[in-house]
Amino acid sequence: MATKRKKVSPKRKRIRTENGTHTITVAVNGRTFTRAVEPRVLLVDFIRDELRLTGTHIGCDTSHCGACTVLVDGHSVKSCTMLAVQADGRKITTIEGLSEHGRLHPIQEAFKAHHGLQCGFCTAGVVLAALELLQVENAPSEDRIRTAISGNICRCTGYSSIVDSVAAAGEMMRPGKG
Ligand code: FES
Ligand code: FES
Repeated sequence: MATKRKKVSPKRKRIRTENGTHTITVAVNGRTFTRAVEPRVLLVDFIRDELRLTGTHIGCDTSHCGACTVLVDGHSVKSCTMLAVQADGRKITTIEGLSEHGRLHPIQEAFKAHHGLQCGFCTAGVVLAALELLQVENAPSEDRIRTAISGNICRCTGYSSIVDSVAAAGEMMRPGKG
C-alpha cells in the first residue's frame, strides 16, 4: 500500500535548510533582519540573544508574567509563547523601537511623569500591552486599562501609578496633543 506523504506548504519548504535551521526574515523596530534559527527557539530568546534587544525581559518563561510582551503586527504577544519561526514575515516592535531620534514616545513620557515604574522589570511589557490598547482607543476607562494590562504582573505592585500613566499617555496621544 502506498504511504501517504505529508504535505509541506511552499513557504515551509522554502525556509527549511539542510542543517535543520529555518531562515526567517523579520522587521524589528523598522529594521529588517534575516537569520537562520533552530525551530525550537522562542521569539523572546531570538530577540534578546540574536538581535541583542535586551529591553524585552524574561520573568517566568511560562506565559504568566508578561515581562516578555512585544507587538507583533501591532498586537501584543508574550514572546515566550511564540516560536521565532512563527514570526517569519512579521513586523515586531520592542521597547527599543518606541523612541524616535532620542525622543521618548508619549507613553514613555507618561510613565516617567506619573511614576509608572519602580524597579522597571515589568515596564517594557506593560508599556507595549498598554500601547496596543491606546493605538485604537485613546481615552480608555480605568477598567479598559486594567483589562489591557491584566496579563502583566508588576512585582513592585505599582498598578495605580501604571493605570494613571496609561490614562495620561492616552491624553498625550490624542490628535492635536504632544
Ligand atoms: S517571560 Fe513570557 S510571560 Fe513571563
Ligand atoms: S516596576 Fe518592578 S516589577 Fe513592575
